[in-house]
Amino acid sequence: MRKLAVLTGGGDCPGLNAVIRAIAKSAHGYGIEVLGIRDGFRGAVEGDFMSLSLKDVSGILPRGGTILGTTNRDNPFAYEMKLNGMTQPVDRSDDVIRNLQEHGVDALLAIGGDGSLNIALKFANKGLKVIGIPKTIDNDLMATDQTFGFQTAVDTAQEALDRLHTTAESHHRVMVLEVMGRYAGWIALYAGVAGGADVILIPEIPYNLNRIALSIQKRAKQGKKFSIIVVAEGAKPLGGEMVVERMMTGRVDPIKLGGIGAKIGHDLEEHYGMETRVTVLGHLQRGGSPNAYDRVLSTRYGAAAVDAALEEEFGIMVALQGREIVRVPLREAVDQIKLVPLNDPLLLAARTLGMEMGD
Ligand code: F6P
Repeated sequence: MRKLAVLTGGGDCPGLNAVIRAIAKSAHGYGIEVLGIRDGFRGAVEGDFMSLSLKDVSGILPRGGTILGTTNRDNPFAYEMKLNGMTQPVDRSDDVIRNLQEHGVDALLAIGGDGSLNIALKFANKGLKVIGIPKTIDNDLMATDQTFGFQTAVDTAQEALDRLHTTAESHHRVMVLEVMGRYAGWIALYAGVAGGADVILIPEIPYNLNRIALSIQKRAKQGKKFSIIVVAEGAKPLGGEMVVERMMTGRVDPIKLGGIGAKIGHDLEEHYGMETRVTVLGHLQRGGSPNAYDRVLSTRYGAAAVDAALEEEFGIMVALQGREIVRVPLREAVDQIKLVPLNDPLLLAARTLGMEMGD
């Protein structure tokens, strides 16, 4: 093992630079050279590589984003190219393998979520030596207890809820906070509990608007003339659909969610006359410095990935299980997404506390 390449794919999240740093430092300790690939799989297709020396990673531990750049488009197996004036998907996976060979790369470390790790698995099936590292604020990857970036996103959402509380109380209003998470409700559940939300709506539990209105009215009768609702972007009404902001071509998942907060705000005003304001937290959840938990987790993932490469174990993802970092088959990680189980201990605790889950 002489040379590793690393890329960051999909939506960014706090802790990416901490992983890159950990990889570069650990590899350096073993005398292994590391190359960075710019902008995820785009750089792999186009041969856009950079050096990742100790100097290059110095000072990046607390920095948000990724020094390598990323993209949630550019799938090498369906790479969008202009052919005869028309944009068409072309399989450029062989170009990736050739570029890595030309740079003398022995193995690829892919830091990504569901989409990027699906691509990584396809490369593993093509014979490339690949190791995955689980990233995403959504925490929706199977086979790991936690992805890095999630805890920091929860912190951001909890702080937003704290701020919404004071203004909601002053104005006697209903405040809705829409958070990210795609098809999983992890961010909404954790931030909702941490921020003391009154109503938590997650995709796994379709909501009944009447239940929500009743719980707000019940609070009002108890003298609490404001209520805080945290809603995951993938939440949907009973018998209804998720709200899609738009469709985007060139992505593994073309669906971009967004707008459920506005729908709930509108429906509460329209049908129940409740004065409601809506905040969409959006990409604030992805930006900024990782918290201590995510710095530690990212660092452990980076070191563990280099150890796995050194021991020639490929086609795997490093994962957190309990307190241990383990190696799991990449397939297990991407087979299906990890939703909030209906018997999740935090979900049950929220119910015990009387938090309204909308059902
Ligand atoms: O997967 C991370 C995530 O932030 C999701 O929570 C969200 O649905 C999506 O990415 C947003 O994607 P984009 O960066 O394209 O707006």
